[in-house]
Amino acid sequence: MALLVGCDPLAGLTVVGDDPSDAPIAGLDASWMERFVRGDAVFDTPYRESQGLGPLYIRQACSSCHAADARGPGVVRRMVLVDADGAPLADQSGLAFGPVVRPQLAAGATVGIVPPEGVDVWVAPRLPPAVFARGYLEAIADSEIERVETAQASEADGVSGRIHRVPWQSEANPEPGGFHTLGPGSVGQIGRFGLKARIATLDEFAADAFQGDMGITSPLRPDELPNPDAQTDDEQPGVDIDAATVNVAGDYVRMLAIPARAAPPEGAPEAFAAMGCATCHVPSLRTRADYPIPQLRDVDAPVYTDLLLHDMGPELADATGDLDASASEWRTAPLVGMRHLSAYLHDGRAPTVEDAIRMHGGEGSEAAASVGRFAEAPPEQRQLVLQFINGL
Ligand code: HEC
Ligand code: HEC
Repeated sequence: MALLVGCDPLAGLTVVGDDPSDAPIAGLDASWMERFVRGDAVFDTPYRESQGLGPLYIRQACSSCHAADARGPGVVRRMVLVDADGAPLADQSGLAFGPVVRPQLAAGATVGIVPPEGVDVWVAPRLPPAVFARGYLEAIADSEIERVETAQASEADGVSGRIHRVPWQSEANPEPGGFHTLGPGSVGQIGRFGLKARIATLDEFAADAFQGDMGITSPLRPDELPNPDAQTDDEQPGVDIDAATVNVAGDYVRMLAIPARAAPPEGAPEAFAAMGCATCHVPSLRTRADYPIPQLRDVDAPVYTDLLLHDMGPELADATGDLDASASEWRTAPLVGMRHLSAYLHDGRAPTVEDAIRMHGGEGSEAAASVGRFAEAPPEQRQLVLQFINGL
């Protein structure tokens, strides 16, 4: 068996700089603050077997993979069956329980989901995005994202992002709190969350994370995931947590502030735009007027993303796609809290921001022309852009 394990980018991760964790957006009233505080506690809870952990899981707490609300130290690993040349096989049915590695056992499970033996498997890490400021991403008006998609399609510089339209993939949320009216059968929503924008809303993402990363079921995701022992339950009989717990975890992420930003060095935003970075890392998009959290209503969301999928070429292609997103398509990474991260790009292959920039301009990447402009710019211009990004 050839097991090609990707790098372990977060080994020894340290979160640097001032501590941005657990900081809510300013001006929340007492009832939103109360939800933020409850959600913070849920986010930091290491779930135990008696609370429904498992039967298979990756980590016990949200904060194990989003420490200080940032990226890591826990990661998700995905597998793909490959031929002798390393090309993915058309038939992936050998991965009977799906592509996600879930090595940890609880509640009497005897076998985890681990790379199968006797076949060539490529295992690639997927790094957690930071969760700062995710309410802004959820609140951005659909019309803004559609406007940017249309604008990119009419430009001739090779950039043509697309909206990832996704279905609701859960049971209905009994208390969606005014954030949406989606449920089973809803289709065509703008995917915003996940490295390939595979989920539209933060409540559904939280339910997906509880189930997929921790083996914690909820009314939105009532079933334990298929596993080699064919266990259908764990030590907490039935559904493990209630919808309110899922929703406060979502609310916590919704209300996390953008970490304090340095004033941009003079000329830096202009250099960033002139290089074409701002075409995808759109400095600001307007939020919708009916978003339930008042502070995020009808404001400019300075998140430096277009939330669109871009083809980043074969060098950045991953083991698998998600829904309609192909292996080489990725959502433009929001540039938020950058100085609190220490490994960049979806699998952490870039140890510095400068490496990340250079590495996402390879052949076949929509960012190639833009990154080419960065690479050819005078060193002081490059420095200016790096300083700017590290202050975001
Ligand atoms: C085992 C590690 C792990 C655990 C545990 C985990 N996450 Fe994540 N998280 C990830 C990874 C990896 C991604 C990217 C997933 C993808 O691309 O689909 C992610 C993505 C997210 C996102 C989307 C952010 C964005 O901008 O796309 C949110 C929100 C989130 N996680 C919240 C949570 C919550 C809430 C919990 C606890 C219930 C949790 N996570 C537990 C690894 C983890
Ligand atoms: C065609 C759209 C596009 C353009 C143009 C573009 N980027 Fe990106 N950028 C992306 C995507 C998509 C990712 C995520 C890729 C991945 O994770 O593999 C990304 C990732 C990054 C990251 C890493 C973020 C993280 O969280 O790890 C940095 C830094 C970055 N871009 C800066 C820049 C700069 C500076 C420029 C201009 C020189 C630029 N980008 C141009 C789409 C673009």
